[in-house]
Amino acid sequence: MAVNPVETDLAERDEYEEGNWSPSLRAIPVAGIRRMVNLAATMDDVIHLSIGQPNFPTPSHIIDAHIEALREGHTGYTMDAGLPELLTELAGYYSQRYARPLSAENILVTTGATEAMYLALTAISAPGREFIVADPTFLLYAPLIRLNGGDVKYIPTRAEHGHQLDPQEVIDSIGMSTFGIVLNSPSNPTGTVYPEETIKAICEEAAYRGIYIFSDEVYDHLLLDEMEYPSVLRHAVDLDNVMVVSSFSKTYSMPGLRIGWVISSQGAIKKLRRYHMFTTTVANTPAQWAGVAALQGDRSCVDEMVAEYARRRDRVVQLIAETPHLTGYWPQGGFYVFPSLPHHVNADNVCIRMLRETGVCMVPGDAFGETCSDSLRISYSTSMEKIEEAFERIIPWMEKQEF
Ligand SMILES: Cc1ncc(COP(=O)(O)O)c(C=O)c1O
Repeated sequence: MAVNPVETDLAERDEYEEGNWSPSLRAIPVAGIRRMVNLAATMDDVIHLSIGQPNFPTPSHIIDAHIEALREGHTGYTMDAGLPELLTELAGYYSQRYARPLSAENILVTTGATEAMYLALTAISAPGREFIVADPTFLLYAPLIRLNGGDVKYIPTRAEHGHQLDPQEVIDSIGMSTFGIVLNSPSNPTGTVYPEETIKAICEEAAYRGIYIFSDEVYDHLLLDEMEYPSVLRHAVDLDNVMVVSSFSKTYSMPGLRIGWVISSQGAIKKLRRYHMFTTTVANTPAQWAGVAALQGDRSCVDEMVAEYARRRDRVVQLIAETPHLTGYWPQGGFYVFPSLPHHVNADNVCIRMLRETGVCMVPGDAFGETCSDSLRISYSTSMEKIEEAFERIIPWMEKQEF
């Protein structure tokens, strides 16, 4: 089974406990999904509702461009900020999408959104600085903040409220040592899309206070209801305190090609370019050409993938409603939903037993935060047949549970 390596651990806990490793390395947790993946690997006939990457083939025109780039000899380094052709395409694309004029100097091409977020967060995080993060959240942010000695202030969200962030709660949480707010909409693991009012209110307050917004927008095209995407790039007062991160990974189902970017003020991008030189130097060159083809090519491939995700979302929400003990909601983006069990129930135990007894693999909520031990993440990045079969196994099993 293909897994997202960030969602599995990079080393066993024992290794961390050896004294030689730096405090930075120890800030990286052992991911909660690991136990599930290890156990699933020993079993037959497992249905994974745990996958953190798209399950569609990469569109053929993108593959062709990648291969052609290799054949044409595009195997050297690009400019440090990225391939000029890709920077120009990205600037044009974003300027048009959000009616905000952007130039190539506002963008840095990176090795996936992961490197973009690494550069952005670790460039600002330092001891004594606090960063506001939703709980649950994608498991990259808190370790990156802590890697450089910064602190994380979590704001819990609940399935009963669709895992929406209350903008006033975010604003009230800002203190003297707050340096940043991390947003991820649509969210992994909840699929929640923050409405325009939330993004606007947080952007306005952050600009007023001079606090950075780090916005992870990798699922910005996987919007499953008719809506205009409320991007931070659309609503930010200016780019001075904003770093928006995205990539081709989810939109074009090409996470292994590892092309992402960060968008910010020209001054911030200049600083991050230098930092990037000392981390990965440049992103993969032929994959950047594949990215140019993605932006220049026909986008109906994306519409088709989104339509299929929406069809699956509709069905998964219905199936969750039919499953005893699960409280669902209406996720509007990505390919995840994060329903909760009754408050006193430990989802870690439930997921392990469910996997052993039904062969269905989900990810326990505590992999994504400190207040989510009663929740679990369901990914519908798998076929409708597998989804149906998974719930045919889960529903009768849940009926028998006495929590
Ligand atoms: C919210 C979120 N951000 C970033 C990433 C990583 O994206 P990339 O493959 O572009 O590094 C993922 C991948 O699962 C994700 O879910």
